[in-house]
Amino acid sequence: MLWRVMGILASASVLAGLLQPAESLPLSSPRADAPRPTIAATVSPPPVIPSEPSDPEPPATEPKPKPVDCAKLKCVALTFDDGPVSGTADLLRVLKRKHVRATFFVLGQQVTAHPAIIRRMVAEGHVIGNHSWNHPEFWGMSAKAIRRQLARTDHAVASITGHRPTLVRTPFGEINARVRKIARSRGDALILWDVDPLDWKKHSAKVVAKRVITHARRGSIILSHDVWPSTRHAYARIIDGLRAKGFTLVTVPELLGHRLKPGRVYLRA
Ligand code: NI
Repeated sequence: MLWRVMGILASASVLAGLLQPAESLPLSSPRADAPRPTIAATVSPPPVIPSEPSDPEPPATEPKPKPVDCAKLKCVALTFDDGPVSGTADLLRVLKRKHVRATFFVLGQQVTAHPAIIRRMVAEGHVIGNHSWNHPEFWGMSAKAIRRQLARTDHAVASITGHRPTLVRTPFGEINARVRKIARSRGDALILWDVDPLDWKKHSAKVVAKRVITHARRGSIILSHDVWPSTRHAYARIIDGLRAKGFTLVTVPELLGHRLKPGRVYLRA
């Protein structure tokens, strides 16, 4: 409960002093009416989908990126939740063109539906985090059920990439003592955010871009959702805008580096 409240406060404090008067932006409340992904009422075994022939671009391994020093640079991390969906390929194209690597918090059920996109993310240097199997509210769940949500997604990702994620973003950012204990025992760091453009609510690339560019500061973790076309369209503008303000765009492990510890909660660097 505590971290949940802190997350809202962090977003609120970032937003409060910076809003344009003309723009009435409700402060972050992702839990209340955030978009629910289409989910099955019961958790059923994942379908076996060997490949995704519709993805026209075969993965090509990028040259290994040079290490970045966020102690010296103004780093921010772009993070994308709730995918992958078919349209995530559009965002990957933008990120590749602009030479940006991001962190994707994926739903296990989406991973099994779009394995080619997951392969491409890894080939292009992005980091994959665990966002549960199908986006339930963790606060009301037993430890066993939470563990199952995370383990199923681990398995789905690892069966494609060979590695299980060690970054977790809980659905709706819901974290309590039980979740922290589970994360600690699994070796996972809990990654929230400090910049939330509420892109699930405002489907305007221009507005989403303005919010992100205005509110980002050194060390920010920026939340967005690659499931929305408007968000995907915003990112060419966002990347240019952040770079114009001197930011270096990095993955969450690059941003937090050796400070990442199992069971700890991170809103920003
Ligand atoms: Ni989500």
